[in-house]
Amino acid sequence: MRVIIADSAAEVAEIAANTVAAVIRAKRSVGQNAVFGLATGSSPMGTYRALAALVNADELDVDGLTCFALDEYVGLEYSHPESYHAVIAQAVTTPLRLDPSRVHVPDGLASDPLAACDAYEAAIAAAGGIDVQLVGIGTNGHIGFNEPTSSLMSRTRFKTLSPQTRADNARFFDSIDAVPKHCLTQGIGTVLDARKVILVAQGAGKADAIAAMIEGPLTSMCPASALQLHRDATVIIDREAASKLQLTEYYDYITQNQPPHVP
Ligand code: F6R
Repeated sequence: MRVIIADSAAEVAEIAANTVAAVIRAKRSVGQNAVFGLATGSSPMGTYRALAALVNADELDVDGLTCFALDEYVGLEYSHPESYHAVIAQAVTTPLRLDPSRVHVPDGLASDPLAACDAYEAAIAAAGGIDVQLVGIGTNGHIGFNEPTSSLMSRTRFKTLSPQTRADNARFFDSIDAVPKHCLTQGIGTVLDARKVILVAQGAGKADAIAAMIEGPLTSMCPASALQLHRDATVIIDREAASKLQLTEYYDYITQNQPPHVP
């Protein structure tokens, strides 16, 4: 796992956006369109703004880009401002001027959620797999909505949100009672299949989860620790989120001595 500790949340966003942009440009240079995996929540919003700035400055061409969101609440109308359909449309599809038919979000209103999950996996496979997957991390170490004790080989499926996640996400709703109890989420195995994974986190509230993910054991108690198994996972965090890591100086040393040819 590569760990980049940035001096500010703005720098986290800039590094993450440039890393995603590099993947999109590399695919474009061989005549292909990239597949970009999207996270919601607060963590990736700066990255999306930085990507939109690149698009608006004509420094990044996202024509033909296909996107797959990580997860969606079950039972929230897509018109609800906190449904991930609505959040992705507002934070990604519109500002990056993407073709909405190429932006996919799990169907939390499906009458047959299990079939919808299988169809989502099939759609990712049909698109050629995800080139670069952006993820955040929950305070309990979840990625996507893969809560503690999730199978590290899981695929897209129906999950029950933990009380901690519902409490954390209550800030987006009128009250905790309004936070859905269920979701559809890509599995940890699905995330591990992405060719590149970028995890972004900011703030001291994520410090315990970040330390457990990077320096703790591989365990389903911290689902994000599964990224230790990934061949190309980069963690981009600010100093506050890094504050409980033991090897901070070592990560800074690696970042400062990264050879220019290493992406
Ligand atoms: C959202 C998602 C979640 C969030 C995590 C952190 O699509 O999959 O794993 O990334 O809950 O949320 P924030 O960024 O709001 O702290």
